Amino acid sequence: MPRMQTPLRWSDRLIAALDDGLRVLGGASHAARPSPAEQVADAPELSTAERRTSAALLRVNHAGELAAQGLYSGQALLARASQTRAQLRAAAREESDHLAWCAARLDELGGRPSVLAPFWYAGSFCIGLLAASCGDKQSLGFVAETERQVEAHLDDHRRRLPAADRKSNAILTRMAADEAHHGTMASLAGGAELPSPVRRCMAIGGEMLRRIAALV
Ligand SMILES: [Fe+2]
Ligand SMILES: [Fe+2]
Repeated sequence: MPRMQTPLRWSDRLIAALDDGLRVLGGASHAARPSPAEQVADAPELSTAERRTSAALLRVNHAGELAAQGLYSGQALLARASQTRAQLRAAAREESDHLAWCAARLDELGGRPSVLAPFWYAGSFCIGLLAASCGDKQSLGFVAETERQVEAHLDDHRRRLPAADRKSNAILTRMAADEAHHGTMASLAGGAELPSPVRRCMAIGGEMLRRIAALV
């Protein structure tokens, strides 16, 4: 007879969230799917300037994926319905692939992650808690809007990557498809349209991350 899954208690969820944070900040995220960069055959060698440009862009994306882990973890912790929590955690697992792919590519390019990594994660975790505290519909609406903004950002970065960097391009392309899927699923699950001042604040937050992570 199939065993019924017991819902996790609050204390278990808190421990799982702390464990997530330590794993993410400790660089222990592993990709469940192979990196799209591995499927790019015969990628041309990059010049020093091209590597530098790509590494700067990848550092921003790596910081963004740290932020995504923080948001999803905070939102999952305070989600009201177990279905919402399961959906958030499923999306976070795919985001974990993005983090591992960006980390590996950044390393290949000779770049280094943003020194503000703990800040990106912890700040986003708090924002995730705040979004979830407004209720599941708002929290799912927050996912849909975040993913919409991230998709636009990824399009911009794909245009700015050196044409020869087909490996990074493959990673960002796959990420954009996943982000679109997460956003659509959140809307279909009942995500509410967020008020425009909130959407603007989110855009400002995203822009701050992009500008600061590009520098440090
Ligand atoms: Fe992502
Ligand atoms: Fe995302």
